[in-house]
Amino acid sequence: MSYQENSADLGDSKVAALLFEYMPKIAAEHKTDSLLVLMADLGRQIVQADRCSLWLIDEERNELWTKVAHGVSELRIPLSAGFVGYSLKTGEPVLVEDAYRDARFDRRSDLKNGYHTTSVMTMPLESDGRVMGVFQAINKVGENVFFSEKDLERLKLISVYSAKTIESALRAEKLERYARELERKAEELKSAHMELIRILGEVSEFRSQEVGDHIHRVAEISVKLAKYLCLSPEEQALIYYAAPLHDLGKVGIADSILNKAGKLTPEEYNQMKSHSVIGRTLLRDSKTDLLCMAYDIAGAHHERWDGTGYPDGLKGEKIPLAARICAVADVLDALASPRCYKPAWPEDKVREEMRKSRGTHFQPELVDILMEHWDEFYSCYTPDGEFVKSGLLPPVI
Ligand SMILES: [Fe+2]
Ligand SMILES: [Fe+2]
Repeated sequence: MSYQENSADLGDSKVAALLFEYMPKIAAEHKTDSLLVLMADLGRQIVQADRCSLWLIDEERNELWTKVAHGVSELRIPLSAGFVGYSLKTGEPVLVEDAYRDARFDRRSDLKNGYHTTSVMTMPLESDGRVMGVFQAINKVGENVFFSEKDLERLKLISVYSAKTIESALRAEKLERYARELERKAEELKSAHMELIRILGEVSEFRSQEVGDHIHRVAEISVKLAKYLCLSPEEQALIYYAAPLHDLGKVGIADSILNKAGKLTPEEYNQMKSHSVIGRTLLRDSKTDLLCMAYDIAGAHHERWDGTGYPDGLKGEKIPLAARICAVADVLDALASPRCYKPAWPEDKVREEMRKSRGTHFQPELVDILMEHWDEFYSCYTPDGEFVKSGLLPPVI
């Protein structure tokens, strides 16, 4: 029997109408498995097949896979299976009217699905000279009809269009997977970075013989000041995480000075003051925003607004803002908390001391904020100077 055109064939205008109907849907779809379903549906209607599927090569698993409907899991076959395998291997199309009379036919899928295949067409899907899969149509719809050369031409047309579209979707999905992987790696690195910074803060606190959670209290007070200064959430977060490193330089101060019970000699006091230079030296090559801010704070948290501080005698806005903020928090906490050499100061004495330092030790606006919201700032200290954590989660960087 020769291949023939038959009454089941669509006219060219019907084919064009179908293409125009599907093109916008295909253009709007970026997921490969949804495209496979759309393309197969378009192919099935254009060549009037009972079943149509686009098989794609899975190079990792050495298999062909397809998706025939939404919500149905994908199908998989070996690379060499039946007519599809033949087209894949040779790059040639297949056009047969009775599959059971062709040695290339793999009847296992019929047996498995209780189906009877008669006429079959397959067309390799090529993109950039590489066969990436095979378009397959099974059983022409109608009585005693078979796929024709014209059907094969039409299948070829759809295959060229499908290959390009699917290639783009696969490339986009690969890029998306790559971007997700990069994002995951970046998150991992960020967590490790934050963890190291937290550990550095703990080391510095342990070394500086501070009582209780001094570095955390300084972080909480600093972030409150930053909030009232209307700094951005990102800057608030940076201050929260950088403030605990303010005394990092104390890791370089001798035990005999750090642990001395009595008053320091002028020479010892000078050595103690060098912790700000040691701190910024340790952080000098920092590249991240967080560690750059930690550098500013470690190096300048003992500068004073009037220029009489150390180590550089910086004045006013020459002092980095984060260090100006941290200086207020550091002194407030030192006064309001008990230390081994003194009890916590009474609230009114702390308030008076901070108020008196407006414009001398501290930037006036920061003291104004502190005075205006005093109860809120001080509410975390109990009458004994014990600090109650706000329980607020730190802002996210
Ligand atoms: Fe310090
Ligand atoms: Fe401190």
